Amino acid sequence: MDAENFIPASLYVCPVVASRPVGAYRQVAFVAPEIAALAHPGQFIMVRRAGPALDPLLPRPMCISDADSDLVKILVEPVGKGSAKLAASQVGDRLSVMGPLGTGFDLEGEGPAVLVGGGIGVSPLVLTAGTLAERGRAVRCILGFRARQQAVAAELFRDFDVDVLTEDGSMGRTGLVNEPLPGCLAIEPGQPAPEVFACGPDGMLWEVARISRECGVRAQVSVATHMACGIGSCQGCVIRTKGSYRKACTSGPVFEAGELEW
Ligand SMILES: Cc1cc2nc3c(=O)[nH]c(=O)nc-3n(C[C@H](O)[C@H](O)[C@H](O)COP(=O)(O)OP(=O)(O)OC[C@H]3O[C@@H](n4cnc5c(N)ncnc54)[C@H](O)[C@@H]3O)c2cc1C
Ligand code: FES
Repeated sequence: MDAENFIPASLYVCPVVASRPVGAYRQVAFVAPEIAALAHPGQFIMVRRAGPALDPLLPRPMCISDADSDLVKILVEPVGKGSAKLAASQVGDRLSVMGPLGTGFDLEGEGPAVLVGGGIGVSPLVLTAGTLAERGRAVRCILGFRARQQAVAAELFRDFDVDVLTEDGSMGRTGLVNEPLPGCLAIEPGQPAPEVFACGPDGMLWEVARISRECGVRAQVSVATHMACGIGSCQGCVIRTKGSYRKACTSGPVFEAGELEW
């Protein structure tokens, strides 16, 4: 990280030190020791390519996928201009990064952790799985993708017990994450109940919330609403929760599943 480019409000200019394809996605690693030191699983950054050309004008929200002493990693799915430019980052490029932002997952429980990811939503679960395991929690991952191209990202979870599903059956089992989930949520007498940590498309999160509720298990879900500022200023990310509207960028992106009005 270039110290001269540090601006209060946690805005950094960070050199890219690795960039590699992970199937349909791209993993980009950049030097950001301050962010790596503070990053909590489930938090995100606002990021764009650094440089005079403000194109696109606004940074894009990206989950912190992994972090260690110096490096932060993101996993990018190119879906439009901003994400395509990030995915095209090469070693030596510089990123303008603000973060870490938002709330992360509450990791304080004791029961087995069941991580449920859909598509690019698996990204924040990499750091989440590693941190939970460091805390002695049993970690099981259920990862669902459209097809093999996306499912290659399951390699990021090679240290864990992973169930991979694809919609077209091109890798792992054919199906959706909600199919194996109930079988992982049995509460053993005298043991702490399992807990669910989920990130993915809204439809998947809704199903995960329903199944967790029916099994009597706590679920935390990370939502990906559109975000313009990431710091609570623009009101662009407001979502409906029980009894109030809340900003996903500052009150989330992680919420108790039961708090959300789906
Ligand atoms: C907290 C948070 C964390 C995120 N983490 C990641 C991540 O780790 N990796 C990653 O690849 N993406 C992530 N996203 C989504 C990513 O920010 C968007 O895909 C990106 O901003 C799109 O910008 P763009 O310029 O590429 O596409 P645009 O041209 O702005 O949009 C392209 C298409 O993507 C849709 N889109 C834009 N934003 C979102 C969104 N938030 N959710 C669903 N669809 C969207 C648009 O409606 C449009 O159809 C995250 C979003 C949030 C809010
Ligand atoms: S993204 Fe601007 S208020 Fe949340």
